[in-house]
Amino acid sequence: MERPTRPRVFVTRQLPGDALARLAAQVSLRVWEGQLPPPREVLLAETREVEGLITLLTDRVDEPLLEGAPRLRAVSNVAVGYDNIDVAACTARRIPVGNTPGVLTETTADFAFALLMGLARRVAEADAYVRTGQWRTWEPGLLLGTDVHGATLGLVGLGAIGAAMARRARGFGMRVLYVNRRARPDLEAELGLTRVDKATLLTESDFVSLHVPLNVETRHWLGRADFAAMKPGALLVNTARGTVVDPAALAEALASGHLGGAALDVTEPEPLPLDSPLLKLPNVLLAPHIASASHTTRGRMASMAVDNLLAALEGRKPPHCVNPELFT
Ligand code: DGY
Repeated sequence: MERPTRPRVFVTRQLPGDALARLAAQVSLRVWEGQLPPPREVLLAETREVEGLITLLTDRVDEPLLEGAPRLRAVSNVAVGYDNIDVAACTARRIPVGNTPGVLTETTADFAFALLMGLARRVAEADAYVRTGQWRTWEPGLLLGTDVHGATLGLVGLGAIGAAMARRARGFGMRVLYVNRRARPDLEAELGLTRVDKATLLTESDFVSLHVPLNVETRHWLGRADFAAMKPGALLVNTARGTVVDPAALAEALASGHLGGAALDVTEPEPLPLDSPLLKLPNVLLAPHIASASHTTRGRMASMAVDNLLAALEGRKPPHCVNPELFT
């Protein structure tokens, strides 16, 4: 008897943990082994005959890719964000798209808070100061920073990660404001948060932390006029997407000194070019998009992405599906 052919799947990078071994037991698998993303022409060629595709946020899934992949039945992104995927185009072709919410919430909030603390208390500058032999004595005015306790934190976005950030902030005795499309009276009651409008958040916050997905509404949400409206000396933390901030306006606000500093896990573009003005500023703390990068969390994200893919290949709704209307 002829064995039924296994679905073909392309994965755009090696993933941590044993998720790909589990996938390999059920599908005919090809994995891009490079450290850098597959070049566009490789991605298009590899997806031409596949039924399933696992992507990272560096891989663009758009109309031309879908057009060239007539057998594709499942797309699964190893990220909670999916701005690299044209979901409407997938939906039009009845292709479910999976993502990885939940598992990275606390890990990402841990890192966002670490960036906030590191920026406020100048941890990277202090480390460089000691390593480069500049430390000669205890000085009353050395590397003075900003107090976190008692300060006001403005959260832009109060989804799961924003709420996890609010919990950490409350533990540090911060006053927490938020803007969000919908009010969250449950979290207001639990954590003593206050919902405000954008103007109030910008004028009253000592720290502004971004926790929104990137979409047409949030693209360059912080522009020149918004930076000007911020409290002088305020500090910005971005673990969402670089493009939520207008990069030219950010560089200007930092250079003028109106913005006290920025801690950026995400930038526009990624990676930052070596001639970026941000690299020259001491009051900018940078990380290479690693907020969800703990051993446990990245393994869970990979596993969840595989579960989403396998469900879609079997015609079931992926446990985490961004276009669930395909299954109603
Ligand atoms: C995401 O999941 O969207 C992050 O940016 C990477 O963990």
